[in-house]
Amino acid sequence: MTQLTTAGFHHVTLVCRDARQTIRFYRDILGLSLVKVTVNFDRTDTYHLYFGDPAGTPGTLLTFFEWPEAKRGRYGVGGIHHVALGTRDDDTLLMWKRWLTENGVRVTGPYDRGYFTSIYFTDPDGQVIEIATDGPGFQIDEPANALGRNLMIPPESRFPEGRDEAAIRAKTWTEPIDAPTEAMRLHGIHHVTGMTDDLDAAHDFYTRLLGLRLVKMSLNQDDPDTRHYFWANYDGETVAYGSDFTLFGWRDTSPRAREGAGQTHHVAWRAVDEDELHSWREYLLGFGHEVTDVRDRKYFKSIYFRTHDGLLVEIATDGPSFGIDETELGSAVQLPDWLEDRRDEIVSSLRPLI
Ligand SMILES: [Fe+2]
Ligand SMILES: [Fe+2]
Repeated sequence: MTQLTTAGFHHVTLVCRDARQTIRFYRDILGLSLVKVTVNFDRTDTYHLYFGDPAGTPGTLLTFFEWPEAKRGRYGVGGIHHVALGTRDDDTLLMWKRWLTENGVRVTGPYDRGYFTSIYFTDPDGQVIEIATDGPGFQIDEPANALGRNLMIPPESRFPEGRDEAAIRAKTWTEPIDAPTEAMRLHGIHHVTGMTDDLDAAHDFYTRLLGLRLVKMSLNQDDPDTRHYFWANYDGETVAYGSDFTLFGWRDTSPRAREGAGQTHHVAWRAVDEDELHSWREYLLGFGHEVTDVRDRKYFKSIYFRTHDGLLVEIATDGPSFGIDETELGSAVQLPDWLEDRRDEIVSSLRPLI
């Protein structure tokens, strides 16, 4: 079997309880574009919202199922700890800290993670979100053409006991921020970090099944007794932006993730087109994996399967994308053809967004 390699993230889907609150947070505070308002095709009385760059480019997309009655989820083994969005540099990161703080969001950091600098906060449902600088990148402690070969031990200054937490807390942008500026615009999914209790099985899954490569073996800088591994689309010279999946290697006694509000529902990876999606399906079946049929998601086609520790994973085609049913993206509730004849019933069962 020829090895298939995903280009990177297509989207990440999270669970929220209140679509209006989610729009206020992701569009009005984080400055993402609301590129599609539709319903969950498998549960048509609930919204499915898509945020991303103005064109809805794969790799920039965060999508939300609105489940008003959902209980709060919990991160743990087989789940996602946080989703990181990219920003230009240390200056724009501090601008984000100032802007978020002015909007009542509690921010921690900036933390120097070596490969990037990061701030952390939670969305209204409790999902941990990180904003991380695009650089300096994984080549700071290993040659760019030999990443992921050795365990890299971070300097003491990056571990909790070596950090000056008071100085970190005090650090922010000195000027007030009236609104996110063009320079602050978020660049899409910088990385996604999950938790596993079996890094070897994870390595097998992400390298053999998704074609990613290990680009860094390090320690969790907030919990130095545990490991932190990074995989990405890496051609031996360059790490593709928007492809970095990382895992904390937790102990095998650690709690498992619980689906619910404020948690990631699934992580979707890119396939070029429908032909390639069918190849992916055959490829995964060839490894004995259970894979769904190809599903029509209107804006892309998808297959679903699970990792060794239970995380729901999707592979989705880049097209046909979000312009197929409206020119002004996100301006009205859109439904697939097979639900159009029930439009009145479906739309009237949704909670108004304004
Ligand atoms: Fe992170
Ligand atoms: Fe999805």
